[in-house]
Amino acid sequence: MKLATRIIHAGAEPDPSTGAIMTPVYQTSTYVQAAPGQNKGYEYARSQNPTRTALEKALAVLENAKFGLSFSSGVAATDAVLKLLAPGDEVIASNDLYGGSYRLFSKIFQKFGIKFHYIKMQDASHVGDYINENTKLIWLETPTNPLMNITDIEAVAAIAKPRNILVCVDNTFASPYLQNPIDLGADIALHSATKYLGGHSDVIHGCLMLNDADLREKLYFIQKSCGAVPGPQDCFLVHRGIKTLHVRMQRHCENGERVAHFLRNHQKVEEVYWCGFDDHPNYDIAKKQMRGFGGMMSFTLKDDSKEAAYKVLSSTRVFALAESLGGVESLINHPASMTHASIPREERIKNGLSDSLIRLSVGIEDADDLIEDLNQAIG
Ligand SMILES: Cc1ncc(COP(=O)(O)O)c(C=O)c1O
Repeated sequence: MKLATRIIHAGAEPDPSTGAIMTPVYQTSTYVQAAPGQNKGYEYARSQNPTRTALEKALAVLENAKFGLSFSSGVAATDAVLKLLAPGDEVIASNDLYGGSYRLFSKIFQKFGIKFHYIKMQDASHVGDYINENTKLIWLETPTNPLMNITDIEAVAAIAKPRNILVCVDNTFASPYLQNPIDLGADIALHSATKYLGGHSDVIHGCLMLNDADLREKLYFIQKSCGAVPGPQDCFLVHRGIKTLHVRMQRHCENGERVAHFLRNHQKVEEVYWCGFDDHPNYDIAKKQMRGFGGMMSFTLKDDSKEAAYKVLSSTRVFALAESLGGVESLINHPASMTHASIPREERIKNGLSDSLIRLSVGIEDADDLIEDLNQAIG
């Protein structure tokens, strides 16, 4: 079956007790047993919940994976992957990554003796320079948040595989509709399902998709032991969101393309970062590993001051000034003071994330209205 059909039907068996077409929100903490140890596959809701099981089946289908694991947030999913490691282990991560992942790595896991190398991954061959016998994990985002840099997933996986190093790709920005890291050789695809998977800005959720049964058991054990489990209502909302992922993503891509070209032609705009431009430094790789370029982009103004950026950020009427991305509504964001505020300024500037950079999550409204809104805000 084709993706659109699989997305809608994945994990959606009629409810066995009523025939309900949507898996109900099983709002329960425990399950009655016929005799000690005799249960229907569910014992306690930190370990299992039928609403979560239905979602996890759908998540696996989205990434062509065998297993899906759903978590209380994207950060909780990231945390579980990092807990596979032990003191002395080393991680290679892209230097342009979500600020919350950087915060988790540098402020939490570093103090438990895990070493991180933040490197430029636009040229995958650099990765090999940082590998040693302690390297256990390569962490990458592509496209990156917020500079839309592209890393060649297949090339990184080819370097990692012979050395038994895990590759985890944060696939939040692309969504599984545009890119499938496991098909390209990665071991784990991670999503902040808060974003495109949920799609309606009404839930915080995260997930991991993977093929290896042992790895799945280890991650499930970490989740059960540490408790970062999602509630059933949140699982229901993400599962509902997934069913329209393909139609939403088509519109995000169309609108993204129009807005990116509009910005590039605007006389007050200096630089537009969007991986669909054919002169993007890694356009060929983006084209090879993605099926479209999405609605995420960022830009700087010719007047490269914080004040000029703030003026634009507070003048839009359709774009809402808010953190997050991937919802049906368009959002505008200032990475330096919002999503990436946890990265020290020198580190930020060094990695090209200037004070005046503005990030857009282009939604699925009418593109004419979005362009008109940006036009009046940029002035
Ligand atoms: C690329 C990326 N990864 C992970 C996360 C963390 O996800 P959550 O906010 O669901 O914990 C975010 C959140 O903004 C993100 O943008």
